[in-house]
Amino acid sequence: MAYESYHCNVCGRRIRIQNRYDMPVLDPNTGFGICKSCIKNIYHFIEEEEGYQAHTNKKNFNNALGELLSKNKPHVIKKYLDEFIILQERAKKILSVAAYNHYKRMKYDLDNTGGDEEIDKSNVIIIGPTGCGKTAMLSHLSKLLDIPFAVTDASSLTEAGFVGADVEVAVRNLYYAAGMDIEKTEHGIIYLDEFDKIARKSGANNSITADPGHEGVQQGLLKMLEGSVVEFTERGQRKHPEAPTIKVDTKNILFIVGGAFVGIEKLVEKRLKKGESPIGFGSEVPSKEDTDKKFNELIHQVRPEDLMKYGIIPEIIGRLPVICTLETLDEDALLRILTEPKNAPVKQYEKLLAMDNVKLEFEEAALRHVAKLAIERKTGARSLKGIIEDVMLDVMFEIPKSNKPRRIVINEACIKGEEQPKILPLEEVKLAKESA
Ligand SMILES: Nc1ncnc2c1ncn2[C@@H]1O[C@H](COP(=O)(O)OP(=O)(O)O)[C@@H](O)[C@H]1O
Ligand SMILES: [Mg+2]
Repeated sequence: MAYESYHCNVCGRRIRIQNRYDMPVLDPNTGFGICKSCIKNIYHFIEEEEGYQAHTNKKNFNNALGELLSKNKPHVIKKYLDEFIILQERAKKILSVAAYNHYKRMKYDLDNTGGDEEIDKSNVIIIGPTGCGKTAMLSHLSKLLDIPFAVTDASSLTEAGFVGADVEVAVRNLYYAAGMDIEKTEHGIIYLDEFDKIARKSGANNSITADPGHEGVQQGLLKMLEGSVVEFTERGQRKHPEAPTIKVDTKNILFIVGGAFVGIEKLVEKRLKKGESPIGFGSEVPSKEDTDKKFNELIHQVRPEDLMKYGIIPEIIGRLPVICTLETLDEDALLRILTEPKNAPVKQYEKLLAMDNVKLEFEEAALRHVAKLAIERKTGARSLKGIIEDVMLDVMFEIPKSNKPRRIVINEACIKGEEQPKILPLEEVKLAKESA
C-alpha cells in the first residue's frame, strides 16, 4: 500500500488507513483525499437540501393552486368563455366545472398525499356539429387556464406499426406545451379533436369494411385514459432501442375528446322510438327550423349506448363520464358570431382597415346574407370568415394605395357579388353628422 495515512482535504484530520474502507476518496497520485465522515456529512447536506427544495416546490405549487382555484371559479371561467363563444350555454358550463374540478382534484391530491382516497377524474366527451365552436371553446379555455394544454388530432393517430403517429404523440404534445416539465405535463389537459374519426368502422354509422387500426387506436388511447406510464422520444427522434425516452404518468391528466359524430342523432332517435316517447314534428317535409330544433333536442339526449353503437368501444366510453353536447347554430346565432365575440370577424376587419385609416361599416342586411350563405354551406360558423374574406379581397388590395381617411360601406349587394364595396371620403360622414 502506497499510503499508511493521509490528510482529509476537507476537514484536515489525519486518517490512518487500516483497510480499504478508510479511503473512500483518495487519489494515489496526488494524495488528495476526503474522509468517510466528511462524505457522510456532504451527502446528508445534499439530501436535506433536496428534501427542502421538494418541500418548497410542493408548497409553492400548492399555494399557486390555491390561488388558481380562487381565481378561476366556474362562473368566472364561463364568463370568460361567454366573451368568445355565442350560445352553447350548457357546454360552457360543463367545461367550466370540469376545469375547476381538475384544479380541485390536484389540490386534494397534494393536501392528502399518502391517503388512499382519490377524487376520480371526470374526462369529458364533446359532441356537436361541424363549426359550432368545439375547438374554439377549448382553445379559449386553454388561454385562460394556467395549465398546460395540448390539442391532438385523433384522426392522425394510428395503431403502433401502422404508418402515422402513435397515440403517445398526444402526451408528447402536452409535454412540449408544458415546457418539457414532466410534473406539469402530468397535471395537464389533453384535447383529442376529431375523436369520431377513430370510431370502429363496423359501428352503426358505417358499413362493414376493413378497419385498419381504428380499434387498435382506441385500445391505445384506453390505456392512456386509464392512467399508464407513456414513454416517448424527443421530437424528431426515431424510436430505436438506444434513443433516450421520456416517461409521463397519465393518471392525473384530464382528457377531453371531441368530434362531430355525424348522424349520432339518428341513433338517439332510433333508441327513443323503441320504448320511450318519440319526438314528433308532424309528417310533412320538415322545415330547416324544425330539423334544427329536432337535432338540438336529440343531441342533448346522447347516452353512452349511442356512442357504443357509433363505434366507440365501451371501455373508452366508461372513461368519459361527462357528455357535453353542442347545438347547431341558426341564422341568428351566426349573425351574432359575426359581430359579438371579442374576436368577431367584423371587429377584426374593422381593426385591420383602421390601420389604413379606413372606417369599415357593414350593413345589417349584408351580415344577415353572410349568415344565410354560411347556412347553405352547412359548415356552421366555419365558413363565415371565408365569405367575408372573399368580399374584402379587392378592398384590402385597393385601400393601402392611399393614406387618406376613408370609409367603406358593405351592403347586401356586395355580399351577393352584384356590387363593389363603396369607398367614400371620410369627410362625408363628418358633414352628415354636423348637418344632423
Ligand atoms: N358558438 C360560437 N361562438 C363564436 N364563434 C364560433 C362559435 N362556433 C364556431 N365559432 C367560430 O367558427 C370557427 C369554427 O369553429 P370550430 O370551433 O373550429 O368548430 P368545430 O365545432 O367544428 O370544432 C371558429 O373560428 C370559431 O371561432
Ligand atoms: Mg373542431
